[in-house]
Amino acid sequence: MIKVGIVGASGYTGLELIKMLISHSGFTLTYLATTQGDISVEALHPSLVDVVSLPVEKADANKVAKHCELVFLALPHQASMGFAKHLLDKGVKVVDLSADYRLTLDTYEANYCPHEDKAHLDDAVYGLIEYYREALKKTNLTASPGCYPTATLLGILPFIPYLDTTAPLFVDAKSGVSGAGKKLSEINNFVHINDNIFAYNPLKHRHAPEIAEKIEKLNDVKMKIHFVPHLIPATRGELVSVYGVLKEDIDPLAILKAHYKNDPFIRIRETPVDIKSTAGTHFCDIYATSNDNALFVSSAIDNLLRGASSQALAAANLMCGYDEGMGLPVIPYMP
Ligand SMILES: NC(=O)c1ccc[n+]([C@@H]2O[C@H](COP(=O)([O-])OP(=O)(O)OC[C@H]3O[C@@H](n4cnc5c(N)ncnc54)[C@H](OP(=O)(O)O)[C@@H]3O)[C@@H](O)[C@H]2O)c1
Repeated sequence: MIKVGIVGASGYTGLELIKMLISHSGFTLTYLATTQGDISVEALHPSLVDVVSLPVEKADANKVAKHCELVFLALPHQASMGFAKHLLDKGVKVVDLSADYRLTLDTYEANYCPHEDKAHLDDAVYGLIEYYREALKKTNLTASPGCYPTATLLGILPFIPYLDTTAPLFVDAKSGVSGAGKKLSEINNFVHINDNIFAYNPLKHRHAPEIAEKIEKLNDVKMKIHFVPHLIPATRGELVSVYGVLKEDIDPLAILKAHYKNDPFIRIRETPVDIKSTAGTHFCDIYATSNDNALFVSSAIDNLLRGASSQALAAANLMCGYDEGMGLPVIPYMP
């Protein structure tokens, strides 16, 4: 068994990691931490009473290194790199769920903050499993993708060779409220989000440059991304619809099926996808259709799992020589 820890155990993605790791057959949870610590995991997450009993400590990089061979950093950006740089130097493998290692230095600093660990930035492998599987098997540092980029990229990447790449991609995305983490804000409190739906940061969200950068890296083409996220009154789930301009006639479903024929966690659907069918799972469901030169691709994921924690676990499996699918959830919460 490989010893693993979670820093950020009180957050939403931290809880999802705990739930998967307590029954994982290759990893044993040896360290949990938050900003304050000095609490038990059952007190932190009462839903886990009589399920798991572990102490939660105040986060300390030296202790992580003493107790773990691999650690998940389920932390806000900036806080993550503060831990990762020390852990990597001490030989601990790191899976970072924040944005800190996802982007090139220039893109990161233009959209987030000054980078505090430039030395390790180039070592990071982007944890979009289906595209970076082989590199993930060799790295000590995974930069787990953002939830919106995960759903968007898995949907649109198979079609880039068929698109008029001089035309912009329009990405219309909708997310359940847990996508913003556990902190309450004016827009995610019950009274505002219940029976409601609205766009936020239209055309200015930080996930647009992440999508553009990965399309460029994987296809050697620069595309303009017009990205508009919306908040919907659901706890979890993300639905992303992408609109592109085709340069030739194609059979979209045949392309998807051929592209992902060896990827067990991508499900190509014959009808438009929905968030509930993927809730509670690592699946990404994708549907696509075309009309003349218009392409419509729609993908659905659970933002907390395929968009964060189960994708992080799949990367950890690969980093440690395990089967990619070990311990990943596949039974949807439906109904
Ligand atoms: N939510 C999603 O759907 C989603 C999807 C993809 C990626 N992500 C990314 O995953 C990361 C975690 O997201 P989340 O939704 O789980 O956030 P969250 O619910 O707000 O939880 C954040 C966690 O970080 C801890 N923390 C903050 N600063 C810390 C520090 N300096 N030292 C130790 N612990 C610290 C918090 O501990 P305290 O309780 O002690 O404050 C809490 O456990 C973020 O970078 C987010 O962008 C989230």
